[in-house]
Amino acid sequence: PLPVARSVASLRQTVADWRKAGLRIGFVPTMGALHAGHLSLVERAKERADRVVVSIFVNPTQFGPSEDFSKYPRQEASDAARLAAFGVDLLYSPSVAEMYPAGAATTVSVGIVTERLEGVFRPTHFDGVATVVAKLLNQVQPHVAVFGEKDYQQLLVVKRLVSDLDIDSEIVPGPTVREADGLAMSSRNAYLSDEDRAIAASLPATLNFVATQLRSGVDAAPILEAGRIRLMKAGFREVQYLDLADASTLAPLERADRPARLLVAALVGATRLIDNMAV
Ligand code: PAJ
Repeated sequence: PLPVARSVASLRQTVADWRKAGLRIGFVPTMGALHAGHLSLVERAKERADRVVVSIFVNPTQFGPSEDFSKYPRQEASDAARLAAFGVDLLYSPSVAEMYPAGAATTVSVGIVTERLEGVFRPTHFDGVATVVAKLLNQVQPHVAVFGEKDYQQLLVVKRLVSDLDIDSEIVPGPTVREADGLAMSSRNAYLSDEDRAIAASLPATLNFVATQLRSGVDAAPILEAGRIRLMKAGFREVQYLDLADASTLAPLERADRPARLLVAALVGATRLIDNMAV
């Protein structure tokens, strides 16, 4: 069975022993309800390290007041079984009280890259992410930590905070793992009804369609607008954004005249989906 650490102290003890033995530590932070996307990050960590730690922590501070914190899927036993079969060495699964003891009063807030896109629709989200990721990286002190491109803005926020706070971990991106019809794997896909699941498949299809046109370097605005209309016609309730941005700063772009990313957030039924694609 997979060893589980539930306290910072027991985590540190195990990792310190590995470090003393000269082993390289890899780390994959998650909120659990694991799928093949998470496991692909574990695979990348295993390629780059001798021991791999996976954390499961549903972080309350990154959920807004009307978001799904209480109903977020929690299935630690089955997650642990999959991680053991995958050759993970340690599961780190702290309680909320262990992560945020009474009196905790520090927030890590990353500027600029958090301001647009997700930051507009989830105004407190990235403070919660940056704070918990800073804490997790300080607790595990991995040589390498792997983050998915599925959450592209989050990946850039983490790179920024690691650079700005001089955290001694290499941040490695992992490509988005998709279902057969292209839908990006997500723990939140479990919320989709059959009808909404069919509508959801138009998200990656539209990203492909729009990205293909943008790659020719034409004016992006009319193509992005056509993409938004296409998503609404497919059955999305709301398109919060479908935007072209600089791939490393997320500054808005009028055309793909440098490395660029197409990013989308849209609501189908009560479920909010995000996705992105290189242009
Ligand atoms: P969670 O949504 O569980 O995702 C954990 C990691 O898996 C993130 O790096 C995410 O980008 C990656 N991931 C999710 N779906 C993926 C997919 N289809 N393909 C590839 N990678 C995928 O992101 C979080 O948790 C939290 O914000 C966290 C970083 C753990 C901080 O609480």
